[in-house]
Amino acid sequence: MVSALGLNHAVLNTVDLDRQVAYYTDLVGLCLVERGSDHAYLATRSGADALLLRRGQATALTGLALLTHVDKSGEEIRRQLADDGIAAEIRHDPHPGVASSVVFIDLDGFEIELISDRRIHPASPSHGVAPLRIGHVARCVPDVARTCEFYGSVLGLKVADRIGEHFVFMRTGVEHHTLNFIQSDRSRLHHIAFEMQDSATLTSACDVLAQAERKVIWGPVRHGPGHNIATYHINPEGQMIEFYAEMDRMTNEALGYYDPRPWHGDRPQRPKTWPAGQDIGIWGPGPPEGFLKQGV
Ligand SMILES: [Fe+2]
Repeated sequence: MVSALGLNHAVLNTVDLDRQVAYYTDLVGLCLVERGSDHAYLATRSGADALLLRRGQATALTGLALLTHVDKSGEEIRRQLADDGIAAEIRHDPHPGVASSVVFIDLDGFEIELISDRRIHPASPSHGVAPLRIGHVARCVPDVARTCEFYGSVLGLKVADRIGEHFVFMRTGVEHHTLNFIQSDRSRLHHIAFEMQDSATLTSACDVLAQAERKVIWGPVRHGPGHNIATYHINPEGQMIEFYAEMDRMTNEALGYYDPRPWHGDRPQRPKTWPAGQDIGIWGPGPPEGFLKQGV
């Protein structure tokens, strides 16, 4: 088993590269690391990788890059995947600041890239929303149990919480979730989430969205699972984007519970299955009609 340690970047096909680059740089406040005729590579103001945009025929999430142990060579990672029956290839100089990576295709046809030698780019002046980092990606999948079993057994992700049987939160480290999987009729992106510095900057993010006439479709709310404060909006290609802060953290794995917070309903707050079909948020409005059916 390879241990995925976090999210490095998401890979998105776009039908209008210039429009998406303008949205992510001017409004979201990401910084261009590299721009070609058919792609753009974006990082946060901290210099952390965030998104690879590629010109494509249809808007879609096509892959995810995950971090793994810095001392693992590409060949070691490839062999570990082979032990789990997964064919992978080593790529050299795949992205700015990345010397090599190991790539395979997951159960749902998504490209998963493992990076062990990430380099942090220079910090840049911030504008727009300017999140700290890309935090998690939620995907709709046709067999949520099978996908979660795959990500647990092949990449070492842990189940952080469930909502019924149809929504599973998985984590790569101390933060409550890195990948979410939602039962659906077909594979697609549900949303991409960026972490804000705190709830004050999350409020400012809503003001920035309003100035750009981009409507907040849900939030601010404090969720039940993960207990993050969150807002959601739709980007120019119809993809849902979340900004969030104050997500649960399990800083001591051996204790088996999330660091205590006043807004927790359980004491201690351990991973659990939340009830489906009812409002499980801590405060704020319930989700808009058809929220889980969203996604491109
Ligand atoms: Fe989310």
